[in-house]
Amino acid sequence: MAPRKIIIDTDPGQDDAVAILLALASPEDLDVLGITAVAGNVPLDLTSKNARIVCELAGKVDVPVFAGCDRPLGRELVTAEHVHGKSGLDGPDLPDPEMPLQDGHAVDWIIDTVRREPAGSVTLCPLGPLTNIASALQKAPDIAERVAQIVLMGGAYFEVGNITPAAEFNIYVDPQAADIVFKSGIDIVVMPLDVTHKALVTQARNDAFRALGNAAGIAVAQMTDFFERFDKAKYGSAGAPLHDPCVTAYLIRPDLFTGRHINVEIETTSELTLGMTVADWWGVTDRPANAFFVGDLDADGFFTLLTERLARL
Ligand code: BDR
Ligand code: CA
Repeated sequence: MAPRKIIIDTDPGQDDAVAILLALASPEDLDVLGITAVAGNVPLDLTSKNARIVCELAGKVDVPVFAGCDRPLGRELVTAEHVHGKSGLDGPDLPDPEMPLQDGHAVDWIIDTVRREPAGSVTLCPLGPLTNIASALQKAPDIAERVAQIVLMGGAYFEVGNITPAAEFNIYVDPQAADIVFKSGIDIVVMPLDVTHKALVTQARNDAFRALGNAAGIAVAQMTDFFERFDKAKYGSAGAPLHDPCVTAYLIRPDLFTGRHINVEIETTSELTLGMTVADWWGVTDRPANAFFVGDLDADGFFTLLTERLARL
């Protein structure tokens, strides 16, 4: 089968970086048409720089990287330096990128690419706030029926919230954008905290990354060393959760994940629960299913896949 064409929309972020590395290490499965940066974990100037640092770490300097929206659709940007550090990629000491940012706005490039490629052939992979994707859908509603699928990291049901008691970070930063995406009618797969909090980098898994001995393996071990302090302190968990790599792993090995087709709505007005993903996991409403909401994964299978693929870089 031909590799699946994907656009990675991202706000790197250590876990975004690992997701990108997994995709770039898997050319037989995934054809990364380009990477679009959005403001999220850190401001846009850093996320668009970090995306290129990661491409260079993977040795894939030909992947086009575009800068997109520098703020959410209707509110001020909220960032997460308290999790990811000042650079967004704290941990390893990686050089500034030499590859340039592409000319043009990420939103226009997403629209042009989805229109140019055969209908139903491009999958969007958002790993950050949904501002770029929603902006593309607003500007060019015709692309909705051409997108094959959206596989995104965001939201939570059982785990509820990580940035507020009710909301997960990516959805909270731009709830208006998330609402547009979830109402788009596009086939959506969601990797919420419910599954990503089960993809934990234990010490043994971190040791396995480091033991690869290549630049990517060592950098991933250093990134998760840095990133884990936040979750260990907050949740008492065994290590760093690899949120965003669940998206790229799902594209390669969907059999590692289980979930339910359910209705998911986004809270866009309440001050108390802004950005909450109201997920009808138990089917208590008649609202139609609009997403495949993942709840569990084969964590050992996931880390075996990730480690094997990182070894290739
Ligand atoms: C999400 O927020 C970011 O901090 C991570 O990169 C991930 O995309 C987890 O809530
Ligand atoms: Ca992210």
